Amino acid sequence: RHAGGGDDDGRGRRRVLVFPLPFQGHVTPMLQLADALRSRGGFAVTVFLAPVPSSSSLLHRPAGYRFVTVGAGVAGAAAALIPSGTGGDFAGALMRLDALLRAPFEDCLRQELAADEDAAAGPVGGSNLRGMQEVAERLGVATLALRTRGACCLVAYMAFPELCGKGILPPPTSARRDQHQMDMQLDELPPLRLRDMMFSATTTHATMATCLERLLDSSRCSSGVILNTFNDLENSDLQKIANGLNVPVYAVGPLHKISIGEHNSLLTQDLSCLEWLDKQEAESVIYVSFGSLASMDPEEILETAWGLVDSQMPFLWVIRPNMVQGSLQVGLPDGFEEATRGSGMVVSWAPQQDVLKHQAVGGFWTHNGWNSTLESICDGVPMICRPQFADQMINARYVEEVWKIGFELEGKLERGMIERALRKLMCSEGGNEMRQRAKDLKKKATTCVEKGGSSKTAIDMLVNRIMSF
Ligand code: UDX
Repeated sequence: RHAGGGDDDGRGRRRVLVFPLPFQGHVTPMLQLADALRSRGGFAVTVFLAPVPSSSSLLHRPAGYRFVTVGAGVAGAAAALIPSGTGGDFAGALMRLDALLRAPFEDCLRQELAADEDAAAGPVGGSNLRGMQEVAERLGVATLALRTRGACCLVAYMAFPELCGKGILPPPTSARRDQHQMDMQLDELPPLRLRDMMFSATTTHATMATCLERLLDSSRCSSGVILNTFNDLENSDLQKIANGLNVPVYAVGPLHKISIGEHNSLLTQDLSCLEWLDKQEAESVIYVSFGSLASMDPEEILETAWGLVDSQMPFLWVIRPNMVQGSLQVGLPDGFEEATRGSGMVVSWAPQQDVLKHQAVGGFWTHNGWNSTLESICDGVPMICRPQFADQMINARYVEEVWKIGFELEGKLERGMIERALRKLMCSEGGNEMRQRAKDLKKKATTCVEKGGSSKTAIDMLVNRIMSF
């Protein structure tokens, strides 16, 4: 057990227990939710954490939280999620971790309950670790399931068994795959195509099916599903979830606009890019970042570098140290820096939310992780979409076809196509229309977190629900 960063760890107050996966895209929304519950409901919070490899800089631990590491001595637990980092068998790794942590979590939860009588107020969740939920159920702790991805993704997961039943999934093996069939829109899930349902190239169909079944079970067996989205963005999918899972649904997002904003970045942010942005013209800069897990091969880095230079647009590009496949070094091409003539900046990790709300940023080239997609929407920034795995294809599809605030960059990355895409987003009539629609959505995202707005109301309902446990 580790104390939080402050003296007050909330003993004696109603306690909420949270268990995020040790990835940025999970830790961020989970701690933002915890933060919102703390400030609206006055709850104390315990954060359970899986052990992480020593190389990870997890975690800045904000004051007022109690942190408990689960399974520190368990062989394999720290390593369980590593090979999946770049889009490997995440589903399989998740299930292994789920099994490994079950017994240690039971010990930790028992201790937590013994230490603090009021700890019996859930939620325990993420809904990724069904095993933890089963432990909580056994010990009489009510659970709520936080889905850190969009409602569109959960609806796709819900349709997975039906598509399997109809023989649409799994698709034929890659050798026998008909591209036309992969590109066809699914009648059950418009505007998604069969290829948008290919969540991982390395997970077997059987593992994926089991993983999704457990994930859906954890939502069905919970006292409610919490989503980091808002009604005006995903109303019809939220309805489908409420009807299909038959549990209350709380759309409480965008959480980063609700949370009072504890710093919870897993990597050190390079703040100097904000000063650089201050010197750029309004809406002139393209921000390029592919989140915390997606990767590129050296050739893609090269093509991206020259595509950015050739577009002659100011850019801010995030290249994480472990982002280049097969290399720890970031191999930017010779002559690249001189060619940018000071109009580009490369950082290893940016303060993304501040970047996206900066007036100099006019477009975002993204992998469409849910957090990045939502953050871009909330600041009215249109997108070039380059999804790689998991829910990213679904999010990209919604950006292009439903919200019409961006477009997908498909096919092998090549500098000419990058330059054309950048011009389309930043300089064309079509790009301006996307920007305008993104700004309209920004207004809705702002209204929903104000007093009486849908997400603010959902947080209050959630607080009441937890108080009733
Ligand atoms: C993972 C999965 O890849 C994604 O499909 C799923 O939706 C969530 O989990 P991740 O790669 O972490 O996502 O991307 P994303 O969800 O976009 O989250 C990245 C977070 O890191 C964002 O909150 C973003 O603001 C932050 N970030 C990213 C930074 O703070 N600085 C950066 O330089 C880049």
